[in-house]
Parts: sequence; structure tokens; C-alpha cells
Amino acid sequence: MKLWLRMVGAALCVLTSALVTASAQTSSPLSERDAARAAEDYERYCALCHGPEREGYANDHAPSLKSGTLLFPGNRLFLFRSIAYGRPDTAMAAYREESGGPMSNREIFRMVDWLYAQEGVDPRYDEDGNDGQLPYIRIEGDVDLGRQVYARECASCHGASGEGGTGTALSNPVMLIFASDLFLKRTIEEGRENTPMLGFKDKLTPEEIDGVTAFLRSKAGGADLEQPGDKNPPTPDEYVINADGADPEFTLEDEIYISSEQLNQALEDKRRMVILDTRAASWWRMGHIEGAVPIPYYSDFDDIIDDLPRDVWIVGYCECPRALAAYTIRQLHDRGFEKTAVLWEGIQGWAGLGYPVILGRAEEQEAEEE
Ligand code: HEC
Ligand code: HEC
Repeated sequence: MKLWLRMVGAALCVLTSALVTASAQTSSPLSERDAARAAEDYERYCALCHGPEREGYANDHAPSLKSGTLLFPGNRLFLFRSIAYGRPDTAMAAYREESGGPMSNREIFRMVDWLYAQEGVDPRYDEDGNDGQLPYIRIEGDVDLGRQVYARECASCHGASGEGGTGTALSNPVMLIFASDLFLKRTIEEGRENTPMLGFKDKLTPEEIDGVTAFLRSKAGGADLEQPGDKNPPTPDEYVINADGADPEFTLEDEIYISSEQLNQALEDKRRMVILDTRAASWWRMGHIEGAVPIPYYSDFDDIIDDLPRDVWIVGYCECPRALAAYTIRQLHDRGFEKTAVLWEGIQGWAGLGYPVILGRAEEQEAEEE
């Protein structure tokens, strides 16, 4: 019983966003009282680096939190995640309580909506009523060309290997795992107004822009080009990793959760298991834990269970950090799968701890979809 109660709790992190979104009909989903509280939080937690007027560059090269290429409808989750998870190895800390920060998920969403409201932008829709979501498509580009462009045009501000400088850290695994290719490309084309980041659309050719976008993506999770990552999602006969290994010895928290440390150890020890990436399938391509099978939470479970082994541990992850994975694992549990676990920190927490993430290519799958 306790187990499923916890899962309901986990699902709340998805619901919170829906509730905050639905709470008002004005151009901002924030009530006046919430706006006042967000302003206080900003003053207390953020102004020191991002500046009293959100203009950026008060300290530590903190970027502007005002520009339109950041605050557009559809980018709300990117902002939420940037604040919740921070950017490891930069001055930007993780503010969510679960990472030891001072803010609840609700307070972080309140902050995000307040940032939008300060610029008069409705985080939910643009003037035409569109939600502004950028689709998660992979920008195919010439990575070698991109590398040259990067060295020539970008390294002076963003660092020779993307470690950051006056510009943000572009090889940061946590940034790359939730910035879509289109978001990167659009930022490169349009720049960020009133910051040193100028738009490159008149300076670079479309091939150069696609190339540098693909080059940035190739750095996700420290993946290098000699290791291009899983080409296609595993087929059912490939689901079990380390098929000849022993079972992992997981210590489950609340009968369901394992830590990133435990999962990493099991992978290093070559233990046999199945890892499920329960997010929408497009995310798998942007970066996943090696060997993970994309089984989105919206799958038809009665159709897929025959492909999954019942005698092997199945570990699910997502990035909320847990709601989608907990839901998916529950579907399996209800169908008699007993060796099941959910990754506590989700994939962003995993990447934030420095564990590896690799790219998905899925060329054949993309061709099929077209
Ligand atoms: C003159 C310095 C400078 C140069 C040159 C420059 N950038 Fe930037 N870039 C910045 C700064 C500063 C920011 C943060 C802007 C802000 O305040 O929002 C930024 C932000 C970005 C972002 C957004 C990252 C995030 O964390 O959201 C991307 C992507 C980016 N730059 C890519 C590039 C690429 C690719 C090039 C080369 C083609 C480039 N930049 C050249 C200074 C620069
Ligand atoms: C100690 C200084 C510091 C504090 C305090 C701080 N930040 Fe940051 N923040 C940064 C830096 C530096 C970056 C860029 C990191 C990088 O290189 O990617 C950043 C990045 C961000 C980004 C991503 C922007 C982008 O262009 O992608 C957001 C959003 C953000 N911070 C919001 C906040 C909020 C909200 C707070 C307060 C709750 C806060 N930050 C507190 C230094 C800080």
C-alpha cells in the first residue's frame, strides 16, 4: 500500500505543472500573492548573480533571465529544469529540495512563471494561441564542419571544450539533456538580446549552423564521436544487458527505488538487467543510459509484456524525476513483474552526478516515420 501511495506522490510533480498552468485565465498563470512571493524568492536566491532586474552578469557570468529566446511559450520546462537541477560544475546550483536546494517544485514553477510575467509573456501560449513547444527533432549536421565553426566563432566565450567562460557551459550534460536541438539552433541563429550572445544567422551559412548544432549535441554526456552511441533502439532479443551476468543486488528504498550509485555499480559489475527509458521516445534519441530500451509510459502494456523477461530485474527511469517511470513500473508490477525498480534521481540526476549518457541515432526509425 505504502508503495503505491509513494507513487501517487511522485505523480504530483507532473500534476503540479498542470495545476499551476490551469490556475488562472490572465496572461500569467500567477496570482498576485504568488507573484509577490516569487519576487521575494528571486531577491533572496537569484539576484546576487542574475542581477536585480534579471539582466544577468551581476556575478559569475550568470546569464540574462529576460531574453525572448529563453522566455518563449513552450520553454517553461527547460527553465524549470535549469533551476531545479542546476548546471553541475558551474555556479548555477540545483535549487530543488531533493537536491538539497531550498525550493519546492511548486516554488520553482512559481519562479518560472514570474520570470515570464516580468517580460509580459504568457508561458502557456503565444499570441496565436499556440503552445510554442519546439518539437524534439534531431538536427542532422556536419559535425566536423561544426567543430571548426565552434573553434573559430564560439570557443572564445564558451571555452575550448565547451566548459564555459563569459558564455554558458555548452558541453554541460545536464544542459544538453534537456535543451532540444531546435532550442540550440534557434539560440545560435537569433542570439539573446542585450547579452554578448549575438545571433549568427547572417554570419554563418545554414550548413554551418546545423553543423555547430550537431557538434554541440555530440558532446552530450561527454559522448565523443568515436562513440556515436546506440544506433537504433534495442530489439527484444537485445533487451537484457549482460545476459550472462548475475542478478544485481539492489537495496530498494520504499520497496521500489534504487539510487544512481546502485545502478551504476550494477552496470560496472556487468549484472544482467533491463533498463527502460519511459519518457516519450524522442527523448531517447537525445540522450539515454547505455543499453536502455525506449518503452514510453504511454505504451500499450498488454502488447509489450511478452517482450520483457519476468526473471530479470527491470529498472525504469524518466526525468521528472520519477512519475513516468513509477507509472510504467506499476503497469508491469500489476501484470506480475516482481523484479522491478525505479531510478530515484531520474536521468537528469544521473547525468548530474557525472554518470554517462549516450546518444540515440535511430536512423532507420526516423526513416520509417517519414
Ligand atoms: C561574445 C561571446 C560569445 C560568443 C562569440 C558566442 N556566444 Fe553563445 N552565449 C554567450 C553568452 C554570454 C550566453 C548567455 C546569454 C544570456 O545571457 O542569455 C550565450 C548563450 C548561448 C547558448 C544558450 C546556452 C544556454 O545555456 O541556454 C547557446 C546554445 C550558445 N550561446 C551557442 C553559441 C555558439 C554555437 C556560438 C558560436 C557559433 C556562440 N554561442 C558564440 C556568449 C557568446
Ligand atoms: C552563484 C550565482 C548564481 C545564482 C545565485 C543563481 N544562478 Fe542561475 N545561473 C548562474 C550561472 C553561472 C548560469 C550559467 C551556467 C552555465 O554555464 O550553464 C546560470 C544559469 C541559469 C539558468 C539557465 C539560463 C540559460 O540561459 O540557459 C536559469 C534559468 C537560472 N540560472 C535561473 C536562476 C534562478 C531562478 C536562480 C535563483 C533561484 C538562480 N539562477 C541563481 C549563476 C547563478
